[in-house]
Amino acid sequence: MTILSRLLLILGSLLPLVQSQALPLHTSSRWILDANNTRVKLRCINWAGHMETHVPEGLHKQSIDFLADWIAQQGFNCVRLTYSIDHALNPDLKVCDAFAAAAAASGASRDALVGLYNQAVAKNPFLATATTRDVYGAVVDALWSRGVMTLLDNHVSRASWCCNLTDGNGWWDSAFGYNKWNSRFFHTQDWLSGLQAMAGWATSHGGVVAMSLRNEMREFLLQGLDGRQDWYDLVGRAGRAVHAANPDVLVVVGGTQSSTDLTHVRGRMLDTSGWPGKHVWEMHAYSFTVTFPNLLGSCDSVKLEYGAFAGFVLEQGEAYTAPLILSEFGVGMTGGSAGNQGLSDQDRNYLSCLAGYMEGNDAEWAVWALQGSYYVRDGTVDYDEGWGVLDHDWSGWRNPEFPSMLGAMWKVTQGP
Ligand SMILES: *[C@@H]1O[C@H](CO)[C@@H](O)[C@H](O)[C@H]1NC(C)=O
Ligand SMILES: *[C@@H]1O[C@H](CO)[C@@H](O)[C@H](O)[C@H]1NC(C)=O
Repeated sequence: MTILSRLLLILGSLLPLVQSQALPLHTSSRWILDANNTRVKLRCINWAGHMETHVPEGLHKQSIDFLADWIAQQGFNCVRLTYSIDHALNPDLKVCDAFAAAAAASGASRDALVGLYNQAVAKNPFLATATTRDVYGAVVDALWSRGVMTLLDNHVSRASWCCNLTDGNGWWDSAFGYNKWNSRFFHTQDWLSGLQAMAGWATSHGGVVAMSLRNEMREFLLQGLDGRQDWYDLVGRAGRAVHAANPDVLVVVGGTQSSTDLTHVRGRMLDTSGWPGKHVWEMHAYSFTVTFPNLLGSCDSVKLEYGAFAGFVLEQGEAYTAPLILSEFGVGMTGGSAGNQGLSDQDRNYLSCLAGYMEGNDAEWAVWALQGSYYVRDGTVDYDEGWGVLDHDWSGWRNPEFPSMLGAMWKVTQGP
């Protein structure tokens, strides 16, 4: 055997064995279907990349191949990969420069960030010459070579931790009721340009099957009091722009109030004719989500709230009928006692109720989150993420009981 053929054999064993879905995906009623009209249920994990370094977290802890293997082996078939508009509009930034700039942007020490960068290069040598966009490409491709699809999520405009009502990323600057606290970074035109840029780029990375237009849109005081006209107008423009740049991707749209409230589409459907057969809704639900208070101390009442504010879009035969992805939910992974499967009482009650709701409707989901730590968050270097499913070293489950707590959410139990 020549050295070349040996090499080819080794390479061949690393290449995709099966591509599990026939792409592109499309929708029919409340279902996501592949190109063969087989139902695809998205079972995703969030992986943050929207913060100051402009690249997906954790590459100083593990190689991309290790992480892609781990994700695929746990049974996730999709990653909700977050990015900022700052990244979308600066694809050629070198990773080394991005880490140095992240120090200034976050207020952390430059030496500490350069140290992280050097660790990241040790784990992932291609970073030495890569741009931040190359890193997104490598992540998406590594996932897809294992059959794991990517949902690209525009999380923020300004690369930073998210989300509250004063972080400047909450609501469009061109919309009614501008105030700097909520809108100073959310430049409408940049947002549209950034979405288009990412959509166009994704045409050369087949694993990107969906794009969400904006994470957790959240109106401040008066901003939502115009009949949500701005939401209809701007979400519509973005959906059309993404579809024009990349007609293959699903277009994922969240409601207002931080992706918890779609009630307004009951009476007036969003015009989705610009992305036919591609529309998907998203919702978020945490134990602390104010839209879903557990006032009566009963799971049944919370399930009614989930349905009334967002889950109703799964009712078939309505103008608003479309698939729904619960694109963020999660619990503290280090909060509780062993008897509680490692959860606090509040998280345990919340998760068992939400999992029951999701088992009932068999909808798509994405847990928050993969990352066991952040390069830097709120100025703290190597910030521990207690909600990360991975431990601080990114080597395995932080709470090994967590996957079983999702019960039948892992299974496909319904279909067209
Ligand atoms: C899709 O259908 C074609 C034709 O029947 C078949 O060859 C192919 O294997 C199918 N792909 C998947 C992913 O099911
Ligand atoms: C809102 O978020 C920003 C960005 O993470 C943070 O700097 C700020 O302190 C937060 N504000 C409040 C009131 O928590």
